[in-house]
Amino acid sequence: MSTLVIVGSQWGDEGKGKITDLLSEEADIIVRYQGGCNAGHTVVIGDKQFIFHLIPSGILHPGKKCLIGSGVVVDPESLLQEMENLRKEGVEIDGRLFLDPKTHIVLPYHKTLDKLKEKKRGKDKLGTTKRGIGPAYLDKIARTGIRMVDLIDEKSLSKKLEINWKEKKEIFNKLYGLKMSNQEKINLIKKYQEYGQLLKKYLMDVSLYLNQAIKEDKKILFEGAQGTLLDVDHGTFPYVTSSHPIAGGACVGTGVGPTKIDKVIGITKAYTTRVGRGPLPTEMQGEMEEYIRQKGREFGATTGRPRRCGWFDAVVVNYAVRINGMDRLALTKIDVLSDLDKIKICTSYKYDGKLIKEFPASLETLQKCIPVYEEMKGWKKDISQVTNYEDLPPQLKVYINRIEELTKAKIVIVSVGPKRSQTIIREKIFK
Ligand code: IMP
Repeated sequence: MSTLVIVGSQWGDEGKGKITDLLSEEADIIVRYQGGCNAGHTVVIGDKQFIFHLIPSGILHPGKKCLIGSGVVVDPESLLQEMENLRKEGVEIDGRLFLDPKTHIVLPYHKTLDKLKEKKRGKDKLGTTKRGIGPAYLDKIARTGIRMVDLIDEKSLSKKLEINWKEKKEIFNKLYGLKMSNQEKINLIKKYQEYGQLLKKYLMDVSLYLNQAIKEDKKILFEGAQGTLLDVDHGTFPYVTSSHPIAGGACVGTGVGPTKIDKVIGITKAYTTRVGRGPLPTEMQGEMEEYIRQKGREFGATTGRPRRCGWFDAVVVNYAVRINGMDRLALTKIDVLSDLDKIKICTSYKYDGKLIKEFPASLETLQKCIPVYEEMKGWKKDISQVTNYEDLPPQLKVYINRIEELTKAKIVIVSVGPKRSQTIIREKIFK
C-alpha cells in the first residue's frame, strides 16, 4: 500500500493536522488537494504549536516532499508568510515544497467580496472564514480565474486581471457602492507579478510528479482539509465550503487517477464540532457545550471563533464512511471526554415519527431530525499518557467498540492528546 487519503469525516477540525504529521514519518510525499488558507491544521511538537493553512502538515519532517495540488486555491501572500514563519523556525522549504502551476489564485478582491457577501446576507450568512475561498472557486468555475502559471507571464496576468477587474469593478460599484481605482489595479498587477517571481522556483507539475512517484512505489499521503459534511456536493449545502474535501477530491485536485488510490482513512473526533452556521443535529447546550469547548480547546485555528460542540453522531460518520469509501478511522480527542460521568452517542434520527439512519439531503428535514441517543458510562480516568491499547480503561474500549460497530469501520489510531507521543497505533497504516 503506497497511497493513502486522509479525510475529515465530520465538519472539519477533526485533528487531521496531527494525524498527517504522524503518518508523514513513514510517507515520502504529502500533498494538499483542495481548499485554501481557510484550513488550519494544528501540529504540536514539544512545547511548540504550528498551524498550517496551505502548506501540508508533513513539512516538519525533514526531507519529505510537500506538494500543493491544482485543486487548492492559493493566496500567495498567505503562502509566502507561512513559508517565512517556517524558515524562522529553522524548517527547510527549498527543494521540498512545490505547487502546481494550475492552482488558482486568491486575490484581495476575493477576500473583500467574501466579507461583503456575508455582510449582505445578514442573519442568513454562511459563517465563512472570510479568506476569499468561495469567490476564488467561483471565478475558477466561471472560467475567469487567474492561475499560478499566469503570475509568471506578465502579459497573461495583465490581460486576465484587466478582464476580471472590469467585472469586479461593476459588482463592487453596483452591488456594494464601492469604487475601485485604476491605480489600485496597476499596483495589484505589479504586486502579483512580484509574487510570481518569488514563487516561480516552487512550481512543479504535481500530477506528473505523483504518477511517477507511484510507479516507483513511493508512499504518498493526500491531506484533505475541512471535512465530508463541508463538501460542496455532499455536505450540508449551502453551509459548506466551495471545494471537495472528500476522498474523491484527492484525484481531481492532484491529477492522480482513482485506480491509484489504495486506502482512505477517516479522521473522526470522539464528539462533533462545527464552526460557522448550519445544522449540527447533536449540538450540546449550555454548560456541557462550554465544558467540551474549553477542555477540547475548540476555537477555530484560522479565525479563533468558538466551535459549536455536539455528541458523537454515528449517522454523520456512517455517511462519511460511504461517501469516502473508508474502512479505517483515526479517533481523536478521546481524552477530552475522560472526566464525564455519562457519554452520549447518537445512533439514528427520529423524523416524522420514524427512525432514520441515513443522512438526509434536505436541510429542512435535517433541521427537524431529533437525535436518538444511547447513553454510556464514562471511564473517569486520565488516559493522556496511555500508549498501549490494552492499557485503556475497559469502559473506554466499550465506547470505541460501539463506534466501530455503528460505523462498520475499524479504529486503527486512537489519539489521546495533541502531541505526537500521545497516540495509540493499533494497526500499521503503510504496509
Ligand atoms: P469558507 O470555506 O471560508 O468559504 O467557509 C465555509 C464554511 O466552511 C464555514 O462554515 C467555515 O466555518 C467552514 N470551514 C472552512 N474551513 C474550515 C476548516 O478548516 N475547518 C472547519 N470549518 C471550516
